[in-house]
Amino acid sequence: MSKKVYIETYGCQMNVADSEVVMSILLKAGYESTDNINEAGLILINTCSIRDNAEQRIWGRLTAISHLKKRNNELKIGIIGCMAERLKEKLIETDQLVDIVVGPDAYRELPLLVNEAEAGHKAVNVLLSREETYADISPVRMDKNGVSSFVSIMRGCNNMCAYCVVPYVRGAERSRNPGSIVKETRELFEKGYREVTLLGQNVDSYKWTNDNENIGFAKLLEKIASIDPLLRVRFSTSHPKDISDDLLHTIARHDNICKHIHLPAQSGSSRILKLMNREYTREWYMDRVDAIRTIVPQCALSTDMITGFCTETEEDHKESLSLMEWAGFDFAYMFKYSQRPGTKAARKFKDDVPETIKSERLSEMISLQNKVSAKSKKKDVGKVFEVLIEGSSKRSSEHLSGRTSQNKVVVFPKDDHDKGEYVRVNIERSTSATLIGKITGQ
Ligand code: SAH
Ligand code: SF4
Ligand code: F3S
Repeated sequence: MSKKVYIETYGCQMNVADSEVVMSILLKAGYESTDNINEAGLILINTCSIRDNAEQRIWGRLTAISHLKKRNNELKIGIIGCMAERLKEKLIETDQLVDIVVGPDAYRELPLLVNEAEAGHKAVNVLLSREETYADISPVRMDKNGVSSFVSIMRGCNNMCAYCVVPYVRGAERSRNPGSIVKETRELFEKGYREVTLLGQNVDSYKWTNDNENIGFAKLLEKIASIDPLLRVRFSTSHPKDISDDLLHTIARHDNICKHIHLPAQSGSSRILKLMNREYTREWYMDRVDAIRTIVPQCALSTDMITGFCTETEEDHKESLSLMEWAGFDFAYMFKYSQRPGTKAARKFKDDVPETIKSERLSEMISLQNKVSAKSKKKDVGKVFEVLIEGSSKRSSEHLSGRTSQNKVVVFPKDDHDKGEYVRVNIERSTSATLIGKITGQ
């Protein structure tokens, strides 16, 4: 009987895409996948280190599953991904439950490492690579809807944002061969998928040189968009210092490139941005937003923000709020600064904003963003949007749910439509998270 593997994924979309690569490697080695943790012979936890609370969650999870090991002493538990890379052997020393530790560039070694663990040795491989992109591996899709999927186009990061652990746990930036990206996307389309999200920490620095051709991100995006007009293309994340007008024109030219850009500002204060080593100013960020508004007028915009970075004053914080109001972000992910060991900020600056102030600033930011998001949704009422149906609405099986090109969730009565189809929906009202409407013939 083949051994069953269960994978649990935390962190960003990259980790979701990586878990699909890991599953593919293990199936090839003879494993079987299961959704039921209780019947697994191998449990892998794909982890995130971005903030301290992300790691605390994993420790909590390990405690929560410790009873499974008492019940089945054959069971092996592996920690993979970013926290594996950051803590290495220390993970095993801290928690005896862990048998296997594998970093993000060593997944090809997993079958070997599991064998080692089965022979009774603790198995660790956290080598980072300058080349690994898993380009030749066809990920085993683990999404539930069969409509939208992630495709990784690069790995690692060469920026050194002072607060960020990613360059340490994911290694140097490398781009994936465009031929393999097009092939994987075409296969997804042929299987019925209608949306892909191209993933990289900084997609604007995608770079590939063939014998006679330089392929940057704008060109890659164009290649993917040309696969079929019925395939929607999204991408994440854009870096404000690198996003080019060339890319914006490409987005404007293709109906099936979604009109949504995730452009993390992090802060609205040029002084803080400098300390963060983001390599742009408030004015530069505003100039890029102006360019988006001019070249792609229907584009939605979202951001990530950090409150309470080292030395942040009330005035700096107010500048973040005013930038958010000015930009009118449709959506924002907002975080309290969390010091990460080994980063530049941890080595050079004091984490000097008290926890209570970080929290106060975060709640102030969240309530401002709630107002800004509500305003952006109100503006959509009375308009008609093309919606890609993703499945039944969570609340009612008589309703379907999908998204607009701008990435806003729309719920509407089912009629005789199904997931994977495009429909035109007239928006009648909005709630805090959703647009609500009816399918229209127009
Ligand atoms: N590559 C992307 C972001 C990846 S991490 C980019 O450059 O935008 C996702 C988000 O987590 C970041 O945008 C940032 O807002 C947040 N983040 C990263 N490190 C953090 C830290 N130490 N404390 C709090 N938030 C952090
Ligand atoms: Fe981290 Fe900056 Fe790289 Fe994003 S661009 S992953 S925030 S170092
Ligand atoms: Fe992603 Fe977390 Fe790693 S955000 S890259 S899973 S540290």
